[in-house]
Amino acid sequence: MAQKILLTGGAGFIGSHTYVELAKAGYEVVILDNFSNAQRDVTDRLEVISGQDVTCVEGDVLNAPLLDKLFADHKFDAVIHFAALKAVGESTEKPLDYLTTNISGLYTLLGAMKKAEVFSLVFSSSATVYGQPDQLPVPETAPRSFNNPYGYTKLVCEQSLEQVAASDDRWAFGILRYFNPAGAHDTALIGEDPNDIPNNLMPYIAKVATGELEKLSVFGDDYDTPDGTGVRDYIHVMDLARGHVQSVDALLRTGNSHTVNLGTGTGYSVIDMLRAYEKAAGKDLPHQMAPRRAGDVASVYGDPDLAREVLGFQAERDLDDMCQSSWNWVSRRKNT
Ligand code: WQD
Repeated sequence: MAQKILLTGGAGFIGSHTYVELAKAGYEVVILDNFSNAQRDVTDRLEVISGQDVTCVEGDVLNAPLLDKLFADHKFDAVIHFAALKAVGESTEKPLDYLTTNISGLYTLLGAMKKAEVFSLVFSSSATVYGQPDQLPVPETAPRSFNNPYGYTKLVCEQSLEQVAASDDRWAFGILRYFNPAGAHDTALIGEDPNDIPNNLMPYIAKVATGELEKLSVFGDDYDTPDGTGVRDYIHVMDLARGHVQSVDALLRTGNSHTVNLGTGTGYSVIDMLRAYEKAAGKDLPHQMAPRRAGDVASVYGDPDLAREVLGFQAERDLDDMCQSSWNWVSRRKNT
């Protein structure tokens, strides 16, 4: 009998790619999504990729009665929780939305899980909990902090899960700290599909490449990095999705919790990304140097060793793969 997963936020960027990997691994999956940051036709495209019907319920993790009905209708073995707000800049403008959706949403979900006696959960965390790290590559033992409401919600959620796990050993949590997700599925049928002007580097460059945006502004070229521009640990979304499957596998197999970085351990600069994208798109991309962005740090990349030891996870795709898959996705999307 296939094990069954509730995938909250499963119509979103990382959630939809994780759906594909879960289906490939033989899991039965139910998606819950309110489509606040996802296109409704993504489920049709997931059916094409997976070759099976997709079960998707439209709704919000804050809706406790809906969650109770979901857990009554389905015998879930575990939950993978993506449903949250994730834009750093927006979180400073709408802190209450972030506190409610990200923190109260998790608590509502945990309450429904406890009632249904489902105790395994993979949580989508972020390297943002490291704040401005003073150790590189960043190990999981680095001190946690926050410098924006989004980062605060991820930190509070991690600490809340630690409290709950300590209270009852039936709980098993996989806390996954992503660095910088990038790229798209090999079929170019799913990928990052922001509704408005993107804050993040790769989707912004992608829109410059398709002509939807005029030029890239490089936020600062005077950092203490090899070429003066910001360095980050970009990880292919397909590697990230596979890491989620390995996390839920481990929870169900061992019942033990884990907190791991999901990164490559390699840092790439803004210019590295720009040049790789130009190669993928086969054209020069207009750009200009601009002042530093408030809140940015010079360089962040993760220590991938613990994820390899605990989950057997290792990123396999490089920056060229991320840029080529992104270009294939956005150029296909623009022409459909
Ligand atoms: C990367 C680099 C910018 C845009 C954020 C969140 C983090 C996670 C990933 C959710 C930096 C530079 C960017 C642009 C630029 N999100 N840049 N021009 O800030 O590392 O991380 O997204 O979990 O929590 O903090 O990602 O893609 O915004 O920036 O020069 O138009 O690209 O200065 O050096 P970041 P990013």
